[in-house]
Amino acid sequence: MKQLSHAATAVACANIAFIKYWGQRDAHLTLPTNGSISMNLDGCLTETTVQCLPEAVEDSVWLALSGGEEVQAKGRQFERVIQQIERLRQLAGVSERVEVRSRNNFPSDAGIASSAAAFAALTRAAAAAFRLELDEAELSRLTRLSGSGSACRSIPAGFVEWFDDGTHAGSYAAQIAPPEHWNLVDIVAVISTEAKHVASTSGHSVATTSPYFPVRLEGIEQRLADVRQGILERDIQRLGQASEADAMSMHVIAMTAHPATMYWLPGTLAVMQAVQRWRVQDNLQSYWTIDAGPNVHVICEAKDAPEVEARLCELDAVQWTIVNGAGPEARLVG
Ligand code: DP6
Repeated sequence: MKQLSHAATAVACANIAFIKYWGQRDAHLTLPTNGSISMNLDGCLTETTVQCLPEAVEDSVWLALSGGEEVQAKGRQFERVIQQIERLRQLAGVSERVEVRSRNNFPSDAGIASSAAAFAALTRAAAAAFRLELDEAELSRLTRLSGSGSACRSIPAGFVEWFDDGTHAGSYAAQIAPPEHWNLVDIVAVISTEAKHVASTSGHSVATTSPYFPVRLEGIEQRLADVRQGILERDIQRLGQASEADAMSMHVIAMTAHPATMYWLPGTLAVMQAVQRWRVQDNLQSYWTIDAGPNVHVICEAKDAPEVEARLCELDAVQWTIVNGAGPEARLVG
């Protein structure tokens, strides 16, 4: 067995999906039923340090709260982190215990999928701490296996596609375009800070029980093509229309699965309608998308972002906003 005693620190962005991952072919391997496309969020970062401790007999995981104070992870949260560490340990052929320390630069109650940033940063840092030489695709596959599938899209930089060919080898994320390709902005309109009541994992597992699931899949290749082209041609209308349609389709699946889940609150609908009204009445080109929660991500070009943000802040439903540009890859720091 190799003896290690060093540490590695990695930073990764959360990401917002324009075409959603919703439903799995294989829960064990986290293989999705469809490909998905996202943008890394440069304002929503997780920093994680993995320190190898040759003398220690146990692993430990520490998570920083918004105020900076650290708490020791327990139960399921601890197990998920250590399962991923164990996967990388086995690959590297090492046995050292580790101490993991992680913190977000955005409020954990903002309803942003922090697990994507967290598992991307964890996998990047652990691979370096265990001296694994992995290319981007292999890092992305390993990140996917953490169970937080969308995290594999936080490994490459900028605008990213997670391919799906139904196999482990073919299920990884790669860059469509670098962050500097397009000044696209994602403004998160925070409607509620309550933790989501139904985890994405449950949503994935029941997605196929919706009678509309085949309809969602029928249209997905066209929406993927539109989003891909929209990004490459910097065409906000093409990107926005396809991503609104895809988010709507994902939520229809959630609302009509067994059991059904309604992620929206009245404020969610208020923002969706306002965004559509601004487009029709004022030709303000912004589009909404929504993950498995009530908060709304509003996508627009940087030139329109101040106007869109000011209007969002005037809505009673919006508590505050977080503005993101396209972010970098999961990378080692320090
Ligand atoms: C709605 O299983 O990747 O965000 O691990 O809970 O973050 P968490 O989610 P995951 O499902 C993501 C679902 C989604 C759509 C998407 O990001 O593609």
